Amino acid sequence: MQEAEKAGGQTPSLRTVRLEDLMHVMNINRICLPENYTYSFFEDLARDYPKSFWVAEVGGKVVGYVMCRVERIFSKIDFFKIKKAGHIVSVAVLPEYRNRGLATALIKQALKALAEHYGCEEAYLEVRVSNDVAISLYHKLGFVSREVHRRYYADGEDALIMAVRLPQNA
Ligand SMILES: CC(C)(COP(=O)(O)OP(=O)(O)OC[C@H]1O[C@@H](n2cnc3c(N)ncnc32)[C@H](O)[C@@H]1OP(=O)(O)O)[C@@H](O)C(=O)NCCC(=O)NCCS
Repeated sequence: MQEAEKAGGQTPSLRTVRLEDLMHVMNINRICLPENYTYSFFEDLARDYPKSFWVAEVGGKVVGYVMCRVERIFSKIDFFKIKKAGHIVSVAVLPEYRNRGLATALIKQALKALAEHYGCEEAYLEVRVSNDVAISLYHKLGFVSREVHRRYYADGEDALIMAVRLPQNA
C-alpha cells in the first residue's frame, strides 16, 4: 500500500467492507458525489461482491471506498466480444483525506479482486467529462477512454466510459 503511505500522521489502512461500514460509506458518497443510492443498493453490492468493495480507514474512521459489480457485457476493449467485466460503480474519498494515494490504493485492490476472485477480464467505469481529477487518476491506473454517453447524468452532463484490461492468471 505504498501510495496510501504518502499520508502523514496516522497510517491509513485498507480492508474489504463490513456491513457495519455501510452507513459511513453512504455518508461519504453523499458528501462527495451527486449520484446517491439507497441503503439496499450499497448492501447488495457488499453482499454480492464483497471482495471488490474496499474501504480506507484512518485512525479507525472510514474515509473512502470503492464498490464494484460484476457484469457480462459487450467488451469495452475488444469490440463484439462478450466478456466478464468489473464495473466500478462508485469511488470517493473525503475531501480532507485526498491526494494521499487512497483512491489509487483502493482501486488497485478492487481491480486485483475483480481479476483474481471474480475472473473479470476487464474493468470499466463512467466518469463525468468535467471530472479532470478522476480522469487523471484513472489514466494513471491504465484506464483508457472508450466512448462518451451523451446526457448520461441526471443533470444532463455526458459520461466518459473508461476501461482497462485486467491481467489473467495463466
Ligand atoms: C477522485 C477521488 C476519488 C481521488 O481520490 P484521492 O484519494 O485524492 O486520489 P489519489 O490521491 O489516489 O490520486 C491522486 C491522483 O489524482 C489526480 N489528482 C488529484 N488531485 C488532482 C488535481 N487537483 N488535479 C488533477 N489531478 C489530480 C492525480 O492523477 C493524482 O495523482 P498524483 O498524486 O500522482 O499526481 C477524489 O478526488 C474524490 O472523492 N472526488 C469526488 C468523488 C469523485 O469524483 N469520484 C469519482 C467519480 S467517477
